[in-house]
Amino acid sequence: MEDKLALNGGPKTKISAAYPMYPGGLEIGEEERKEVLEVLDNKYLFRYYGPEGVPSKVAQLEKDFAKKVNSPYALAVTNCTGALITSLIACGIGPGHEVLVPGYTFFASCAAIVAAKAIPVIVEVDETLTMDPIDIEKKITPQTKAMVVVHMRGVPCDMDKIMALAKKHNLRVIEDVAQAAGGTYKGKYLGTFGDCGCFSFQYHKTITAGEGGMIVTADPRLLDRCKGYHDTAACWRPDRFAEQRYEGELFAGTNYRMSELTGAVMLAQLRKLDRLLGSMRENQKRIINQIKDTKGIKVRPVHDVKGDTGICIMFYLDDKSLVQPFTEALSAEGVPAAGVYNSGLPDWHIYAHWSHIIEKKTPTSEGCPWTCPYHKGPEVEYSVDMNPNTLEYLSRVVHLDVPPQMSEEDCDLTAQAIRKVAKALL
Ligand SMILES: Cc1ncc(COP(=O)(O)O)c(C=O)c1O
Repeated sequence: MEDKLALNGGPKTKISAAYPMYPGGLEIGEEERKEVLEVLDNKYLFRYYGPEGVPSKVAQLEKDFAKKVNSPYALAVTNCTGALITSLIACGIGPGHEVLVPGYTFFASCAAIVAAKAIPVIVEVDETLTMDPIDIEKKITPQTKAMVVVHMRGVPCDMDKIMALAKKHNLRVIEDVAQAAGGTYKGKYLGTFGDCGCFSFQYHKTITAGEGGMIVTADPRLLDRCKGYHDTAACWRPDRFAEQRYEGELFAGTNYRMSELTGAVMLAQLRKLDRLLGSMRENQKRIINQIKDTKGIKVRPVHDVKGDTGICIMFYLDDKSLVQPFTEALSAEGVPAAGVYNSGLPDWHIYAHWSHIIEKKTPTSEGCPWTCPYHKGPEVEYSVDMNPNTLEYLSRVVHLDVPPQMSEEDCDLTAQAIRKVAKALL
C-alpha cells in the first residue's frame, strides 16, 4: 500500500461508500411493514382504546422491552426528551432543585431539567467522555436532588461510583440511555441502575421508528406517576375519574403517549436489537484491534468494554491542532471522521455551545427556574470555560461511526486508513 495520502494525490484506501449511521433505520423491511399493516387493518391506532378485541402494539412493546432489559416495568412515550421530563417530574424534581448533568451530552438531557423547572448544574466528563464522579461530588450542594446520568456515545458510565454517590447524598438517578440501548455495565442493562432509565427511538438511534422513547423503572409508584404525567387524560387508569389511591398519584400532566403506529415499528425493531448490537460490536472490535497500538493514537477508555454498544470509535490525538488535519486526511481516504470540539463549529452535544443555558435565556421575563424563590444558597452560574477538562478531552478526540452494515473488508480498510494517516501525520 502506497503511503502517500489521498489528500496529496495518493491512492484512496477505501473506495466503497460509507453507510450512514441509521443502524435500525436501514434495516426496516417486511417485519416492520407487517406490524404497521396490522395496525391499519385493525383500525386500532390509539394505545388505550379502539375496536374491541384488538391487542395494543404499544402495550406489547412495553412488555417486550421490559423483558429485554430485565426491568419490572416499561412505559412507552413519544421521545426521550419527554421520557426525561416525565421521569424527573415523577421523581419529584422541580422548583428550587439542582440537578447534575454532564457537559457532554445532547442538549435535551439539560433542557429536560429546565422543562421540569429545576436548575441544571453542568459537570465535567472524564477521559471516558462520561460523567466524572470526582466532579459530581464537588458540585453537590444541599440543593442537589438528582443526576441525569448519560451513557454517552454508546458506553456505560462508572455506575458503581455514581450509584454510591447517589446513595451517600440521597440523590435520584435518571439514566439517559438515548445513545446506548442494549448496553450493559457489569452484566446489568443500562437504564436499570437508577430510578428511571430513558431511551430514544429517534432515527439516528440503534433501533428506531423515526421518533419514540421508553422509560423503564423498578418502582411501581414511579411508574404510576410517569403514566400520570405522560397522559393527562389518565386513559391508563381503569376508572379515569376514580379518587387517587395514594398521595402523589394524581397531578396535572401532559401528553407524551406513544402511537400504535410507532409501537408497531418498534416491536419489529426491538427484535433486531441483538443482531444490530452484535454487528456493531464485532466491527468496532475488529477496527480497534488493528489501531490500538498505533503511535500517536489512544482509544477512548471504557468503564466496561463488554457493555459498550459499539456504535462508534473515539480516539485521542496528543494535541488538538492535529485533529483537523487528521480528520480531513482520513475523510479523503474514504473514511468519514470528525473532531468533536473545535471552537468554529457549534455542536449541540457540548455545553460550551448551550448559550441559552449559559446566558440563562428564558421564554418569560421572570427568569424561571434560575430566579426561583424556592432555590436556596448561591445562584448557579455558568461560563463557557467552566468545565476545562471536558473541553480539553473533546478538543483532542476523533469520532467515527460504526454502522452495523459494514463488512469485514470495510472494517479492515477503515483501520488501514487510520494507520496510514497516523503514520503520515503523527
Ligand atoms: C443523549 C441524548 N439524550 C436525549 C436525546 C433526546 O432524544 P429524543 O430526540 O428522542 O427526544 C438524545 C437524542 O439525540 C440524545 O442523544
